[in-house]
Amino acid sequence: MPSPHEVIIAPSILGGDHADLRQSLKKIEKAGSDWVHFDIMDGHFVPNISFGPQSVSAMRQETNLLFDVHLMLENPHKYVDAFINAGADQITIHVEPNYPIMDTLSYIKSSNCKCGIAINPDTPEELLKEFLTECDLALLMTVQPGYGGQSFRHDVLNKIENLDLWRETLNLDFRLEVDGGVNLETSPLCTTRGADVLVTGTAFFEATNQKSFISELKV
Ligand code: DX5
Ligand code: ZN
Repeated sequence: MPSPHEVIIAPSILGGDHADLRQSLKKIEKAGSDWVHFDIMDGHFVPNISFGPQSVSAMRQETNLLFDVHLMLENPHKYVDAFINAGADQITIHVEPNYPIMDTLSYIKSSNCKCGIAINPDTPEELLKEFLTECDLALLMTVQPGYGGQSFRHDVLNKIENLDLWRETLNLDFRLEVDGGVNLETSPLCTTRGADVLVTGTAFFEATNQKSFISELKV
């Protein structure tokens, strides 16, 4: 069922113009977005390399929007400090790699930063459950992570319903974020099942009118 939270739109700067990220950031801000989503990739956990803390820090000077930092790293615990110092407001780590997840979540929170936990499309959502009490957000990948512009995985929809049910039955308050292939067609499939944060890269930057695109996504 729809979330108790209002829907938040977080365009992914990965989909922007990498020769002019300042302009892409301005587009995100002018369109009335709530957050900026940063996809941080290490070439190991995912087969691509994107931004580092220096890029996040440079863009921090350009806007007051909330920085939603998605760490797709094999060793996220080694880089949390760097992204907190770069101005991240929220840091999301994945459950799949082998590292001290609960300690890392507690450390992020103790650094006055919000924390989130993420899973890939083929990972059972049960692996998230033990971390939900500690988290401000749960991120469900709706594509295999590594690239923008992929097609939405409809087989993830039942995971949204399960997370929403756990949120209610466990009396928790985390936000439910979906990431990958989100557009005007797939977003209602997510929000009617309980998702309340929509990451959008390609669809946002390809929209002819980004302001009306954002308001249509929120409907
Ligand atoms: C993929 C990233 C996504 C991606 C979204 O690994 O986590 O945030 O950039 O882009 P689209 O909306 O194009 O799928
Ligand atoms: Zn992402």
